[in-house]
Amino acid sequence: MRTIDDLDVAGRRVLVRLDLNVPMDGASISDDGKIRACLPTLRALLDRGAAVIACSHLGRPAGAPDPRYTLGPVAGRLAQLLGHRVVFAADIVGPCARSAVTALRRGDVVLLENLRFEPGETSKDDEVRGEFADRLASLADAYVGDGFGSVHRKHASVYDVPARLPHAAGYLIQAETAALRRLTSRIERPYAVVMGGAKVADKLPVVDSMLGIADQILVGGAIAVPFLAAQGYSVGASLLEGDQAAARDYRAKAAASGVDLVLPTDVTVAAERSDDAPCTVVSAAEIQTGQMVLDIGPRSAGLFASKLAGASTIFWNGPMGVSEIPSFAAGTRAIAAALAGSHGFTVIGGGDTAAAIRRLGFTDDQFGHVSTGGGASLEYLEGKTLPGLAALETESAVPATATS
Ligand code: 3PG
Ligand code: MG
Repeated sequence: MRTIDDLDVAGRRVLVRLDLNVPMDGASISDDGKIRACLPTLRALLDRGAAVIACSHLGRPAGAPDPRYTLGPVAGRLAQLLGHRVVFAADIVGPCARSAVTALRRGDVVLLENLRFEPGETSKDDEVRGEFADRLASLADAYVGDGFGSVHRKHASVYDVPARLPHAAGYLIQAETAALRRLTSRIERPYAVVMGGAKVADKLPVVDSMLGIADQILVGGAIAVPFLAAQGYSVGASLLEGDQAAARDYRAKAAASGVDLVLPTDVTVAAERSDDAPCTVVSAAEIQTGQMVLDIGPRSAGLFASKLAGASTIFWNGPMGVSEIPSFAAGTRAIAAALAGSHGFTVIGGGDTAAAIRRLGFTDDQFGHVSTGGGASLEYLEGKTLPGLAALETESAVPATATS
């Protein structure tokens, strides 16, 4: 894959697709890891005399402007971290963006408003997406893809724009794919995968794919709930998403193929998901009506940690519980400590998991690699084709070193 080192950017307007989808608490950014992760690419482009047009999505607005999802606060933080002025354009391909781009000189940075305010960005209709991609591409002379967290999305700014401009991958995508390649070829075994988090419907099928890849799969977080139900346990008031039949099937497959599929044996429960809800630890087989599973219990945390102590490679996606609430953070903390203390190669995948470990006081340098992409890294490890990477690998009709 061509990187920005191979792209002629001096004096050119370069559209850079980033993943600035940071966790927000109202208008304040609760973790800026994704913003920090894109600084090396932006600095290199500016050093080489590019004029930078940065763009990203934030959250999942419904294809129209929505002040709750403005990238305004992100522009401020980006300017601070970059130590450089960032002009914020209040639209994407409208008059604000066009006049900001017209005024752009080499060494300037513009951040466009949230791409998902335009329905064309996420449209499933190739033509609708293509029309928006045309307008976006017309702002720039070249394209750099560096939003690793969104490369699994077939969206206009990720997939269609690179076909329209000379393009290259940024340093974040380069670093992410280099680290994750260690988990797809020549894996040092035993290989343990820890799955948690909330997007159960998305993640349950990943357990199935991982059965053919990992030696151990440890399941916590909301995704453990269908597995507990599949064992015949009551899950009380827990939200039972996902397919219990699938969970049962995966357990059978794991048993048949010798994969160690490890489920929580105890859980921390409470009547509600709140700071002051009284919580207790119960055996996974004894969850009562009205109790909600909000973390793995201490016995499970110990069990998971002892399994991880023997692993040479560990990939972890998704917190073990509602880790933003201190009473339900112990499981996530225990897994983070197990990875931090491991002698193996450890990878944490996903903005939410990365934010959770930083909130608990861990630092990125305690792990082999902290990926900015959750869904993207999982799909990469499953061996799926990621639209954003495929688009960067495809030669565009326009040569990378075209003069303009
Ligand atoms: C993420 O945070 O996982 C990425 O930014 C992708 O966001 P999405 O799941 O809304 O496409
Ligand atoms: Mg996410």
